[in-house]
Amino acid sequence: MAEYKVNEVLGVIMNRRSTRKFNDHPVTEEQLAAIVEAGRYAPTGGNSQSVHFVVMINAEVREKLRVLVQNAFLHMELSDDMYSSLKNSIRLSREGNYAFDYHAPILIVVSNRRGYPNAIADSACALQNMMLEAESLGVGSCWINQLHWLDEDPDIRAYLEPLGIGEDETICGALALGNYDTKQEVKPRTGMKVDYVR
Ligand SMILES: Cc1cc2nc3c(=O)[nH]c(=O)nc-3n(C[C@H](O)[C@H](O)[C@H](O)COP(=O)(O)O)c2cc1C
Repeated sequence: MAEYKVNEVLGVIMNRRSTRKFNDHPVTEEQLAAIVEAGRYAPTGGNSQSVHFVVMINAEVREKLRVLVQNAFLHMELSDDMYSSLKNSIRLSREGNYAFDYHAPILIVVSNRRGYPNAIADSACALQNMMLEAESLGVGSCWINQLHWLDEDPDIRAYLEPLGIGEDETICGALALGNYDTKQEVKPRTGMKVDYVR
C-alpha cells in the first residue's frame, strides 16, 4: 500500500474506539447537539432522510429500559449456534446485573421506516457519523445493538413508542455516549481484506 497522510478526518477515524466504561463527567448540551447534527447530516439512500433519533438523557427512563432489556433476554433460550454477543446478553441477564448500555449517561436510539430497504444502511451511516463527531470532541461512544435485536419485543415496544419510536418504525441500533477516564487501547487494524484491481 502507498504511503498516505493522516489528515484530521482520517486521524479521528483511526483513533475512535468503543467506550464501555463511562464516568460522571457530563457531556455538554453543545457537544450533544453537534453529535446529533453529525447523525442528521449522514447520507441516506435516495436522500430519504427517514432516520429518527430518540435521545435519552433522563436517568430514570434509561434505568427502566435497562430492566426491560434484561427481562427480555431472561425469556430467551440459549443455543450453541447463537451469535456470541446475543449469548452474552442472555448469560449476563441471567446473572441479574445486565446493563446493555454500560450505564452511559446518554443513549441515542436510532430507528427508521419499517420495510424501507435501506433502513439499516442509512442508520449505520448516521451512527458512524455520530461516533466520529463524538471522538473528535473527546466524547466516548459505543454502538449498542440490543434494542435492534429486541425490536419485536412487545414490552420494549410498549415502552419505547410513547417515548417517540413510531409504530411504523424499526429500531436499527443505538449509541451509548459519555465521557471516560481511560480510552480503550488503539491497536493497528489487522482484519478486512483489500484487493486493488488496476
Ligand atoms: C453493527 C454493530 C453492532 C455492535 N453492537 C455492539 C453492542 O451491542 N455492544 C457493544 O458493546 N459493542 C457493539 N459494537 C461495537 C463493536 O464491538 C466494536 O466496534 C468492535 O469490537 C471494534 O472495536 P472498536 O469500536 O473499539 O474499534 C457494535 C458494532 C457494530 C458496527
